[in-house]
Amino acid sequence: MKAIKKLWMLALLMAMPAVALASGAEVHLDKAPVNLEDQVSLQRGAKLFTSRCLACHSASYMRYNRLQDIGMTEEQIKKDLELPEDVKLGSTMQAAMDSNSAKLAFGVAPPDLSVISRSRSADWLYTYLRSFYVDSERASGWNNTVFPNVGMPHAMADLQGEQTLKVEGHEGHETRTLVLTTPGAMKPAEYDSAVADLTNYLVFMGEPAKLVRYNLGLIVLGFLSVLFVLVYALKKEIWKDIH
Ligand code: HEC
Repeated sequence: MKAIKKLWMLALLMAMPAVALASGAEVHLDKAPVNLEDQVSLQRGAKLFTSRCLACHSASYMRYNRLQDIGMTEEQIKKDLELPEDVKLGSTMQAAMDSNSAKLAFGVAPPDLSVISRSRSADWLYTYLRSFYVDSERASGWNNTVFPNVGMPHAMADLQGEQTLKVEGHEGHETRTLVLTTPGAMKPAEYDSAVADLTNYLVFMGEPAKLVRYNLGLIVLGFLSVLFVLVYALKKEIWKDIH
């Protein structure tokens, strides 16, 4: 009897990854064109982030002056991001709305986004921010195919416009497509590229040291090449009398 129970447990355990895969495979994620070396894109992303997301979300590990790492001067940080006079460049990015009021308003507190690109992949973020659709059954009026029944309203609806979810059944197989029913200020391709910039910036925030690491790699390579030349010269010097 015990052996049978054990076998059952084993069978269950073996089936579990298959179940997890089956539920995860439902949403298709688009590939995010992330490029941390594209400073202009990162700067556009930073601007979108501060103007569109900081109303509700904070980025507590991110200081404004670290934007110098993506090529912004102190002057640009203050002017382009339209920071109020009393915000110091050394301070961290704090949400305009306090977490308790946000929780009351949306039912869930908006999470800190400093390292969101580590818990959610770049592809997830890129797809999520393009997958809001109008849903009159939700309190916010919005829903999302990547994050069903999300508490967040579409923060860039004026740019993207309004999408509607179209569900079609084919022989027991369901296809769900998002259709743009009301255009926004941006054309679809423009909106995609704006979200790509924003995703790029979210990835940078999650690991700003990545940029530093690239540079460190180059310095190490440079050092090794110089060392190689010196050692080679030394070898020649040592062996020259022997040959
Ligand atoms: C009006 C307030 C508001 C604004 C503005 C807003 N969000 Fe949100 N966001 C929320 C709330 C509330 C949640 C929590 C949703 C939930 O868990 O159901 C959320 C959730 C998220 C999540 C999912 C986090 C997770 O993994 O659970 C991401 C990513 C996100 N927001 C990104 C953004 C970005 C990027 C912007 C700027 C374009 C933005 N948000 C603007 C309120 C907001």
